[in-house]
Amino acid sequence: MTKTMVKTITLAITAVCLLMCEGVFAQTKDPLLFPKDNFTVETKRVKTAAGEKKITYHAYMHIPYVAKPVDKDYQSLNVSIPVSIDGVQVNTTNAPIVLVIGVGGYMSVRNASSNHAHPEGGMGAPPRVPRPGGMGAGSDRGDLALAAGYVVVSPGCRGRDNKAADGTFYGKAPAVIVDLKAAVRYIRHNKGILPGNTEQIVSVGCSAGGAVSAVLGASGNSPLYDFYLKEIGAADERDDIYACACYSPITDLEHADGAYEWMYGNTPVSSGLVDQKLSNQLKALNAEYQVSLHLEGKNGFGPITADNYGDYLMQYYLVPSANKFLKGLTDEKRKEYLDNNKWINWKNNEATFSFKDYVASVGRMKNLPAFDDFENQKPEPSEFGSATVDTRHFTEFSLRHSTGNANATLDTDVILQRNMMNPMYFVGQKNPGCAIKWWLRNGTRDNDTSQPIMVNLATSLENNLNRDVNAWDFWDAGHCQDNDPESFIAWIGQITGHSK
Ligand code: DHB
Repeated sequence: MTKTMVKTITLAITAVCLLMCEGVFAQTKDPLLFPKDNFTVETKRVKTAAGEKKITYHAYMHIPYVAKPVDKDYQSLNVSIPVSIDGVQVNTTNAPIVLVIGVGGYMSVRNASSNHAHPEGGMGAPPRVPRPGGMGAGSDRGDLALAAGYVVVSPGCRGRDNKAADGTFYGKAPAVIVDLKAAVRYIRHNKGILPGNTEQIVSVGCSAGGAVSAVLGASGNSPLYDFYLKEIGAADERDDIYACACYSPITDLEHADGAYEWMYGNTPVSSGLVDQKLSNQLKALNAEYQVSLHLEGKNGFGPITADNYGDYLMQYYLVPSANKFLKGLTDEKRKEYLDNNKWINWKNNEATFSFKDYVASVGRMKNLPAFDDFENQKPEPSEFGSATVDTRHFTEFSLRHSTGNANATLDTDVILQRNMMNPMYFVGQKNPGCAIKWWLRNGTRDNDTSQPIMVNLATSLENNLNRDVNAWDFWDAGHCQDNDPESFIAWIGQITGHSK
């Protein structure tokens, strides 16, 4: 053998070895490793209470967060990591990680465009044209979080509208929450690689986004979702989060129709009063449900029931909210406001009004039943569809009414879906993986759902799990309206110790 032949053979063997090694390496390479060097440097100006800030940040776009995505245009996330704020370097090694949930209307959130920091949500999701009373012209929460030096993660996720080419649905419940949990697991899986403190993940969303934020917060580490998480190749990690924020959560869906009648049953919609017989039946179911929750009100109020819920709301939510609002007005503005709202009396710096007048002033928005409507036209029956059925009833009441079969029962998989979509289910079970800190906000004029829905969640978290709950109603605020976005950002700083 010539020297050249030996050289050639040696080279060939080396090349084969290298290729084989690479093959082995490729097989063992972690598909869920955060691509930390694959970012673009971006800048943006964010209006904050402390003035406009110039943020320089690293943007990571469209990173699949599961190994076996059903649709990676949805099961991917964006990450924004602040690098400097007004020219001052930011250290994000231990910063809180804010998970901004863009879900609205239980629709999917697509994460496939190339020019936006946030994924595109469905109805109600930011960024969007705000509904009257929405977040309005202020900076969005993600931008404010960035301006505070927090890491911001914006996940896409599947939703009830996702339909494959063969006509099957792939985003019905529990897909949305399975995806959000997978995103949390991805973050935790990349501890020390993705900047930020993986033990300080804070989720936030509004409306259906507030509802799924609540489920994410309440259901941490529940084995109920294991099968689904495995199926999509989610990281094998814990999925509990530290803190959970929910604005106008459209949650506890299977009990929301009864609570809506409790609050609005005697208040007409534009076409008049809803069917009073059916309304009363739903009210009776609601009264039973309230008793079954065994909730104790604050400061020795005692058991909260359908009969005294109006008093409870007045004492701890509505009157304090009205007082704060009215005290914040100038004498002239207050007089003008009170002249236009004769149902409120103002004496010795205290508002008094009746719950009945308050409800009448808000008015009823939705028909009966407000969520599991008989015609399956609302977002909620669509959320509870299956791979092959677009819409399904998720309450026995509506199923029986719409089929005319008084003995009809829900499919067992619908009951399972319901549990996996309801934070009350996990709080009622005292789930140890439930988030420690809670921020709950609603508007007093929000009639997308009734007031007890958020207050049941707040009280249940306090009663069952002794969780730290910061709950408040913004006076006169509508659906998803956030009158004080900066205080949420400050709260994150406070509960994580980051603002010290
Ligand atoms: C939303 C609003 C609703 O009234 C509802 O029933 C479900 C979702 C939303 O804005 O996300």
